[in-house]
Amino acid sequence: MTTAKLRIDPPGGTAVLAGRPVARIGFGAMQLPGPGVWGPPRDRETALAVLRRAVELGVNHIDTAQYYGPDVANELIHAALHPYPENLVLVSKIGGDRDDHGELRAGVEANLRTLSVDRLDVVNLRLLDAAESGAAGAEAVDLDSQLDEMVALRDEGKIGGIGVSNVTLDQLGHALPAGIVCVQNAYSLLDRTHEPLLDMCREHDLAWVPFFPLGSAFPGIAKVTEHPAVVGAATAVGATPAQVGLAWLLAHDPHILLIPGTSSLDHLAENMATGQVRLDAETLSLLDGLAAPPN
Ligand SMILES: NC(=O)c1ccc[n+]([C@@H]2O[C@H](COP(=O)([O-])OP(=O)(O)OC[C@H]3O[C@@H](n4cnc5c(N)ncnc54)[C@H](OP(=O)(O)O)[C@@H]3O)[C@@H](O)[C@H]2O)c1
Repeated sequence: MTTAKLRIDPPGGTAVLAGRPVARIGFGAMQLPGPGVWGPPRDRETALAVLRRAVELGVNHIDTAQYYGPDVANELIHAALHPYPENLVLVSKIGGDRDDHGELRAGVEANLRTLSVDRLDVVNLRLLDAAESGAAGAEAVDLDSQLDEMVALRDEGKIGGIGVSNVTLDQLGHALPAGIVCVQNAYSLLDRTHEPLLDMCREHDLAWVPFFPLGSAFPGIAKVTEHPAVVGAATAVGATPAQVGLAWLLAHDPHILLIPGTSSLDHLAENMATGQVRLDAETLSLLDGLAAPPN
């Protein structure tokens, strides 16, 4: 006898990304490779189990990159989930592998090959900032030629929708005519530096898919789960600190889609249960005050 699995509304509700319905709580695959995003996972079976459980719990939007590992996250996604559920939206990114000038097409082809798909639902063009690309590199990046290549790849059917990542307000404005569907920049309850980009997403009805929604695993970035006010709010509403951080994002704007990253089944379950967490007006206002958006 089989046990039917009860499937209710996706946690956190739904949104549309590149014309496809997605649950607002998705999954970021960057924590699946080994420490610091390098090498094989500490425990391959757990990594595969996390991906399968994510889908069971309602994730139908997975964010990945060929250079997570490198070559590890995509291989795990393929091993865990192929043949993919029809409703799964796979989003990758190119341009962030530090030596990319004119290699966007090769990046898309590599993702298509390792994920074993004919088309990537969305590909984010990940721009390098000056600190990442070095003094000469930032100037060498020609946004228009990169966007032209992305549009060509979309016209050929290899990409469903184009996103941009790590962009400035000017760069997003410049990219809009290419037909952008989503924006990925760092953003969390404790880091609202890029709030003006969220405003632009709202204005143009684009999905805002923040990376580091919990403050990442990297040192030197404010950890949402460790902030005393978040911990206090979590106790007050009967949730965990991670859930408070994610619930704040869900409540802050309907254009926000979540892709928290985890290598832990327990954390995954916690993050997915965020859809049931309700923050009252007083808690929301306290959390709103933790980080000031720029004027
Ligand atoms: N576009 C870009 O340039 C870009 C850049 C970076 C990331 N991304 C994408 O954004 C996604 C999210 O960013 P991220 O993974 O770097 O950072 P994140 O989601 O902000 O945080 C991940 C960290 O939080 C921990 N964590 C997750 N759930 C938790 C919970 N319930 N309680 C306590 N700790 C928890 C994880 O540890 P455990 O593994 O122990 O749970 C990990 O250390 C990535 O996975 C990736 O797909 C995109």
